[in-house]
Amino acid sequence: MSWWWAGVASAATKKLEGVDASSSRGHQSVALVVGVTGIVGNSLSEILPLPDTPGGPWKVYGVARRPRPNWNVDHPVDYIQCDVSDAEDTKIKLSQLTDVTHIFYVTWASRATEVENCQANGAMFRNVLRAIIPVAPNLCHVSLQTGAKNYIGPFESIGKIKAHDPPFTKDLPRLDFGFEEYGFDEEESGRLRLVEMMEGKVGVWEEIMRENELQPTKLEEVAVWWFADLVLGGEAVLDSMNKRKEHGFLGFRNSKKSFISWIKKMTAYKIVP
Ligand SMILES: NC(=O)c1ccc[n+]([C@@H]2O[C@H](COP(=O)([O-])OP(=O)(O)OC[C@H]3O[C@@H](n4cnc5c(N)ncnc54)[C@H](OP(=O)(O)O)[C@@H]3O)[C@@H](O)[C@H]2O)c1
Repeated sequence: MSWWWAGVASAATKKLEGVDASSSRGHQSVALVVGVTGIVGNSLSEILPLPDTPGGPWKVYGVARRPRPNWNVDHPVDYIQCDVSDAEDTKIKLSQLTDVTHIFYVTWASRATEVENCQANGAMFRNVLRAIIPVAPNLCHVSLQTGAKNYIGPFESIGKIKAHDPPFTKDLPRLDFGFEEYGFDEEESGRLRLVEMMEGKVGVWEEIMRENELQPTKLEEVAVWWFADLVLGGEAVLDSMNKRKEHGFLGFRNSKKSFISWIKKMTAYKIVP
């Protein structure tokens, strides 16, 4: 067992002490990973089927809208092509999954405003729960992945409302999204933006793909340029990991190594040269 999993496993063992084992361990762990080809979902689909993963080896169902990419076919995952924003599609395809024990909801939709984000993401999540809950009697855990908006506010308000000071801890109060103007907009003009730099580069990307025999992708699929602008253009933020460590989740990843491993993975998958 790797040092990383050793930490997680001991934490999991500790958490199970005093719990009626039959309630959580009496059946095989069956994951439904919604967003299985994404950054988080792909990692889950690699880790969960391993024999030394706590609760493992897991059976894994993985959901995404596009056809299964060929770099993903080696993963022992039952791949389901389904658009969870479509209630009917979700009901038809996911209500077959009667043995699901855990839902890992690791997808998201990005809309122009936070009101639209809440509507779109709320509807997607509800569609999944409405399809699974009535048919999966052993469902015992739903994990909803979120980000740092609790602390910095919605993307549209960054720089316009006062965010919490880092480090961000779980007990910080909710931000007021009342959009009090903070006047940062002007400071942003003149900054180098990937969104602008990538304008008109579709042909360049097509040439790079041809020359390097890459998977066929569209330029806007290779990276979310506006998000990179947002993340790289602001002040550095620091999330506190104390609460999860206090609860026994001691594993961690080295950010620098993680970036490098993802770049190598995308090269191996022939998504980038
Ligand atoms: N990655 C990060 O650094 C980060 C940071 C903060 C928070 N998060 C949170 O972590 C979660 C996962 O993020 P991620 O970065 O792993 O996402 P991602 O890389 O953008 O992947 C999204 C996944 O969801 C699938 N998907 C998108 N729309 C779908 C739909 N309507 N129906 C079914 N599948 C759909 C995508 O495949 P298709 O396009 O083929 O459907 C893909 O597999 C999100 O809640 C995000 O906010 C991530």
